[in-house]
Amino acid sequence: MHPDQLFLILVSILILSPASVNAYDEQFETCYQPFSCFNLGSLGYPFWGGNRPQYCGHPGFELDCNQYVYDFPRIQILSITYKILKIDTTSHILTIAREDLANNTCPEKLLNTTIDLNLFNPVSTDGSLLYLFYGCALNLNSISTQRISNSSFVCRGEKRANTTNFFTTKQASNDYLFTVCKTFITVPVDNITTWASVVDLRRALAAGFSLTWMENNTICDLCSKSGGRCGSIPDSTTFACYCPDRPHQLTCNDDQPAGRAN
Ligand SMILES: *[C@@H]1O[C@H](CO)[C@@H](O)[C@H](O)[C@H]1NC(C)=O
Ligand SMILES: *[C@@H]1O[C@H](CO)[C@@H](O)[C@H](O)[C@H]1NC(C)=O
Ligand SMILES: *[C@@H]1O[C@H](CO)[C@@H](O)[C@H](O)[C@H]1NC(C)=O
Ligand SMILES: *[C@@H]1O[C@H](CO)[C@@H](O)[C@H](O)[C@H]1NC(C)=O
Ligand SMILES: *[C@@H]1O[C@H](CO)[C@@H](O)[C@H](O)[C@H]1NC(C)=O
Ligand SMILES: *[C@@H]1O[C@H](CO)[C@@H](O)[C@H](O)[C@H]1NC(C)=O
Repeated sequence: MHPDQLFLILVSILILSPASVNAYDEQFETCYQPFSCFNLGSLGYPFWGGNRPQYCGHPGFELDCNQYVYDFPRIQILSITYKILKIDTTSHILTIAREDLANNTCPEKLLNTTIDLNLFNPVSTDGSLLYLFYGCALNLNSISTQRISNSSFVCRGEKRANTTNFFTTKQASNDYLFTVCKTFITVPVDNITTWASVVDLRRALAAGFSLTWMENNTICDLCSKSGGRCGSIPDSTTFACYCPDRPHQLTCNDDQPAGRAN
């Protein structure tokens, strides 16, 4: 064999060998790709889902972007499914609506809205918290708060029941209501007035409520500024900064290898 040929073969082996592939960190490459989901715009950490692996995000922020099955993007928070209406990546505000209540005040299963406060913070306070009361034994004609009749609604198969369902805002609720109703659920909304009608209620439930997400915003900013991509150690919530050379703990300039899964 001619020495030049041998040289070429050696060079090819070097180029194609796994060692040279590792010169660029695979997780860095993968997480570098922006991520889109329906019409939500270009998304990054902490969101993931579809083709974007969990290690490019945080486990609590999986988006369901399956356009073949649903008409809108969805997210689950503590086992409740929400429609995602908007993600503002600048102000870190997520606007979501309960899927089971989006066009229906009588869901099959009555569930309180519970938010994982380790990951999210409500934008508005109790002022816009709604109470939906079910199975209330009260006579709408005799009750002094006539206004309640404007906010009552009938659930399917209940037409002849001797009870009623209605909603109030937190401020408009009173102890009496809790004693005459079989059950109630709470739902935050962004926009409702104190004496709203059932039409307003449906509109408010569909328009949802806003949360800020607190997923290591400051740490992620430092990682991005150092040229890295934010993510997490696979199968954990531990932050990782994916850099061209390898995963780091916080920024591409630190000497720390990425932390251990917790
Ligand atoms: C809401 O429900 C009503 C009847 O149940 C239906 O006619 C309407 O199309 C639904 N609207 C949306 C936005 O899903
Ligand atoms: C009930 O709703 C009707 C129609 O929206 C309104 O005209 C009326 O003032 C409301 N009644 C009360 C007590 O709020
Ligand atoms: C409805 O409830 C009232 C008061 O609780 C009771 O007096 C009345 O008999 C009930 N009517 C029916 C049809 O169950
Ligand atoms: C919702 O939470 C309240 C307490 O905040 C509780 O009293 C109520 O029973 C809950 N409703 C349901 C349907 O679990
Ligand atoms: C708030 O709700 C009212 C009545 O339902 C509606 O007219 C108004 O446009 C809503 N505002 C926003 C900012 O969505
Ligand atoms: C933020 O990162 C730390 C370090 O990796 C991790 O332990 C923590 O769970 C993260 N924050 C949240 C809210 O998950």
